[in-house]
Amino acid sequence: MPSPCYITTPIYYVNDRPHIGHCYTTLLADVAARFERLRRGEPPQGPAPGVFMLTGTDEHADKVVTTGAAHGCTPLEWSDRNAAEFQRAFAFMNFSQDDFIRTTQERHKSKVLEYVAELQRRGDVYLGDYSGWYDESQDEYLTETVAKESPHGPFTSPVTGRPLVRRSEKNYFFRLSAYEGRLRAHIEGHPGFILPEARRNEVLGRLRQGLQDVPISRAITDDPASQWGIRMPSDPGHRIYVWIDALFNYLSAIDSSARGAFWPPRVHVMAKDILWFHAVIWPCMLMALGRDLPGCVYAHSYWVREGKKMSKSLGNFVTLEVLQAYAARYSLDALRWYLLTQGPLGATDADFSHAKFVDVYNADLANGIGNSASRVANMIDKYFGGVLPECNPAGAKARFDARHADLAGRVLGALDRFDLAACAQAGISLVSRVDEVISEERPFTLAKDMPANGARVAEILCFAAESLRIASVLLAPALTSRMEQVWRSWGCAPGRGQTLEVLCAFGGPAGLRPGARLAKGEALFMRADPAEAPPA
Ligand code: MSP
Repeated sequence: MPSPCYITTPIYYVNDRPHIGHCYTTLLADVAARFERLRRGEPPQGPAPGVFMLTGTDEHADKVVTTGAAHGCTPLEWSDRNAAEFQRAFAFMNFSQDDFIRTTQERHKSKVLEYVAELQRRGDVYLGDYSGWYDESQDEYLTETVAKESPHGPFTSPVTGRPLVRRSEKNYFFRLSAYEGRLRAHIEGHPGFILPEARRNEVLGRLRQGLQDVPISRAITDDPASQWGIRMPSDPGHRIYVWIDALFNYLSAIDSSARGAFWPPRVHVMAKDILWFHAVIWPCMLMALGRDLPGCVYAHSYWVREGKKMSKSLGNFVTLEVLQAYAARYSLDALRWYLLTQGPLGATDADFSHAKFVDVYNADLANGIGNSASRVANMIDKYFGGVLPECNPAGAKARFDARHADLAGRVLGALDRFDLAACAQAGISLVSRVDEVISEERPFTLAKDMPANGARVAEILCFAAESLRIASVLLAPALTSRMEQVWRSWGCAPGRGQTLEVLCAFGGPAGLRPGARLAKGEALFMRADPAEAPPA
């Protein structure tokens, strides 16, 4: 049995409205969790023992107080309202998280106090003076070098371009510097710890400049914003810095006897903006607490629009409303497919483009799995009364093996590298193989001379139907509802206990059998008109 698998997303600032970026990262975690459930022979939509997917909201930022007040709300009311927006957005996206954590929840706050007290007890926290460049738009201090080398100009926020401010305060510090050597050794010894590789190299590069201790608290003043957050244990004059509070969510959510076995996380998924916190500060805090480190910190790139970073000031976000309009016109599965396969999974940014959406939709879905499934079901209906015929199994399997021997092994290998685009493409490559065999061998022409050609036609169609069954399994983590539709029409839903390996075995225990009824079913994806304007 594979070991327990814990997958996390960042917890999102509750002040933002959910947009493509939040949905994308959470989609990656969702697709990975669905594959992991299939790996273990569990229903992909979950819940399933052995797999735990976590997402949630980060609610103790100063902005929550100010924006809440501007809307006539207390910070908690404002958090409640916006956390609910994220939950609705994620329900709409059909995400299968096992839990949604909010940093204002008691279960989180009480654990954070324990963790910080433990760091203090172990001597890794001290009171000191801090003065540095502060990025108010991101609620973080930057090092001198990062502040100087911001892509938007010296002493501006590298994320938003807003001017940095000089701040001084008394703070509790975490002895980050003490862990520099161990962290470097860990990163060097575990090539998969920070992915993609370009990001790993960046972190190693920055580490060469050395690590300084980091503040983990902020002084409480008369400003109501400074009073929002978790107080430092044994010093009510300070609150725990929002980033430290937030990072602990990964631990607080599963730190119980029922869930404890999920530690350490298989992968923390996020974008490159918050990699430093996750690849440097967080692992060092875990070392200080004597906890195992996550298997992988995966930092994808950004969705951009017309080549520009999406930002509040440009007002160019692909909003949830835009995503919903795409789902309404092309189906939610189509939206998930586009985000998954065309997104910034690796080290390069990805542009959200309507033309690309329609191209990919038509190629992979309407003309791909959709057309192939309906063509094969139609031929089985026409030549064999909708019942899968007897055939020579070796002949059918040979056509499959020509390209797809050890399919499950390769998909699981890609999953371990978090190469989810490759996992999804494995299904599409099976569909292409089916199309190729059908156009080369022309069963529709052979069928004109029946029963003479009956055995060959049966062999081709058995190959095609069984290959598409396997494709439907591999596509199901992305195309959650349409593949279930295929399973219903063909009576081939994965059974409990059938692992991905069993499900992908051609003619294996999960395979379609002669005599199986394959209903034609409704079209999966209607062809899209490339000339049509983007949905409003
Ligand atoms: N609250 C912190 C994270 C704390 S985790 C312990 C935070 N929140 S955030 O709301 O700003 O979310 C940042 C994350 O949202 C990114 O790391 C990424 O996962 C996602 N995205 C936001 N914009 C994005 C794009 N334009 N493109 C892709 N994903 C991006 O930072």
